[in-house]
Amino acid sequence: MFDPRPLVDIATAIGREAGALVQRMRASAVVSFDTKSTSTDVVTAADRASEQLVRTRLSELRPGEPILGEEEGGPDGDADVEGLTWVVDPIDGTVNYLYGIPWYSVSIAAQLDGESVAGAVVEPATGRVWTAARGHGAFLDGEPLHVSATTDLSLSLLGYGFAYRPERRQRQADTWASMATRVRDLRRAGAASLDLCSVAAGRLDAYAEHGLGRWDWAAGGLIAAEAGAVVRLPGSLPELGEDATFAAAPGIADAMYGALVESGFGKV
Ligand code: IPD
Repeated sequence: MFDPRPLVDIATAIGREAGALVQRMRASAVVSFDTKSTSTDVVTAADRASEQLVRTRLSELRPGEPILGEEEGGPDGDADVEGLTWVVDPIDGTVNYLYGIPWYSVSIAAQLDGESVAGAVVEPATGRVWTAARGHGAFLDGEPLHVSATTDLSLSLLGYGFAYRPERRQRQADTWASMATRVRDLRRAGAASLDLCSVAAGRLDAYAEHGLGRWDWAAGGLIAAEAGAVVRLPGSLPELGEDATFAAAPGIADAMYGALVESGFGKV
């Protein structure tokens, strides 16, 4: 029987090494960066160097296995993801990284036929490591993680994010304004992988965002699910929009889902 746990060890070791590189490069990375989809969507030299390191190490330890990375691309989409694929976000939360907000990660997942089976999310600024293997639970630095036990939507803390395109942001802002009166409060922390880990740890009761790349959710989504969250990934929730990611503690998942639909989240 396939045991994904050795893949977690590989993702963790490589993620730690890339995280150390990312930390060493911070001072120089913040003065030299490019933009991608919009002028607010940034990429630093450290994103590229981190991905290069992860690719090199994976090709040494797991030769021949395809790699999808945020900066260099690779096989994506359901048609292309048969067998084992590695999915890498070399720095998730690049804007936080740029500003010195210590909430960014190196995220590495192994997916089997497009579904995550192992993942590690490393926080370079603190050295903390979030991990999960399918069927074997989720952990923060080896301690088991569990979602919150909340059952009251009005007392829930909701994490969210914005897309980069201004017109879409405006519609999203309307949705979040509507959600603000239905939940305890909202948090836009700036790193999707860590938002999903936060749901796993009960630091958030739920999280929803549109437009994530596979590299943003591949490890964090597994960590949230293994900690007991209801997790829905892009392509699975037409009512919330084809590119929606949703994770919630089971006690409020249905109510949160309904409130998001009512707030227009599916139409942004
Ligand atoms: C971004 C972060 C952010 C989310 C964006 C992502 P990046 O990832 O996860 O929280 O709102 O959609 O693109 O670009 O820093 O790797």
